[in-house]
Amino acid sequence: MCSEFVGHRPPVLPDRNLGMELVRATEAASIRGFKYVGKGDKNAADGAAVDAMRQFLNTVEFNGTIVIGEGEKDNAPMLFNGERVGTGNGPKVDIAVDPIDGTSLTAAGRQNALSVIAVSDAGTMLDASEVFYMDKLVAGPEGIGVVDIRKPIAENIRAIAKAGGKAIEDVVVAVLDRPRHEQLINDIRATGAGTRLLLDGDVAGGIQAARYGSRIDLCVGIGGSPEGIVTTCAVKGLGGIVQGILKPRDETERQRALAAGLKLDHVYEMDEMVASNNTLFVATGVTDGGLVRGVRRKGPVILTHSVVIRGVSGTIRYVEAEHVAERWL
Ligand code: FBP
Repeated sequence: MCSEFVGHRPPVLPDRNLGMELVRATEAASIRGFKYVGKGDKNAADGAAVDAMRQFLNTVEFNGTIVIGEGEKDNAPMLFNGERVGTGNGPKVDIAVDPIDGTSLTAAGRQNALSVIAVSDAGTMLDASEVFYMDKLVAGPEGIGVVDIRKPIAENIRAIAKAGGKAIEDVVVAVLDRPRHEQLINDIRATGAGTRLLLDGDVAGGIQAARYGSRIDLCVGIGGSPEGIVTTCAVKGLGGIVQGILKPRDETERQRALAAGLKLDHVYEMDEMVASNNTLFVATGVTDGGLVRGVRRKGPVILTHSVVIRGVSGTIRYVEAEHVAERWL
């Protein structure tokens, strides 16, 4: 039984169907981005996805503020931080958008590109946009109280292996394949564990780490801060742990972070990144990946595959849709 119903009458929440509304926006972004898969132009892919997402978000019955967007106001028509979206009626929410997480993957025609929207109650989402990078650790429910970003990676690997009842050699750790992670990757392999090196897309990597039955046990390393907040919205529903430490790139970013009230040298726990369990995470595949399949064109039909994760109930729904292709031409 869902935890929200234990000992209570089922609450009548106005936002139950919001997931199905939001999935229209990620589907639209993925379909528009799909045109650019493998075409070598990541900005064109992103631009098409942003435009589609904005158009659909503005038809949703909610009063949304983009807390994590694609840029600042000057960069309009992007979905900028602080922009209001939706019809203005319905629940007040904070929104994080990543019209394509994996723009380079899309441009190269590689796997694991997603279109993503995450939502939480108004005023609950941390705006970490002043700092581009965040060091992150993500694990599933077995990692709660077991792993900690402050501990050496070897210790965390041993702990997650023990908690999951598996040999260290069977532990798989996802990490972005970047020069900055050379030592981390060596340290992971020195334990006997394996790595899943991500070309891009640590939202999908983090979700795979938290998801029941996936081959990935942990996702660690430095990636985008916005992606950390988005991942937290999903893990609220999946169960599990996300921790983050902001990593300013230089003194200017450091000062901007402090001026914005962000904490440096601080481990952000899940409730500090998203101070509500009333979250929704919605993603549609642009290209095929471990979480969802990518967009496909079959004659007159375009097929999309999406996932909707609802924080308060822990429900994970997969949505397959068939779209009339000629309406998207
Ligand atoms: P975008 O496609 O949205 O640019 O992000 C891709 C991504 O791989 C994220 O998933 C990740 O958090 C971030 O970029 C890592 O940044 P960098 O490529 O600078 O290491």
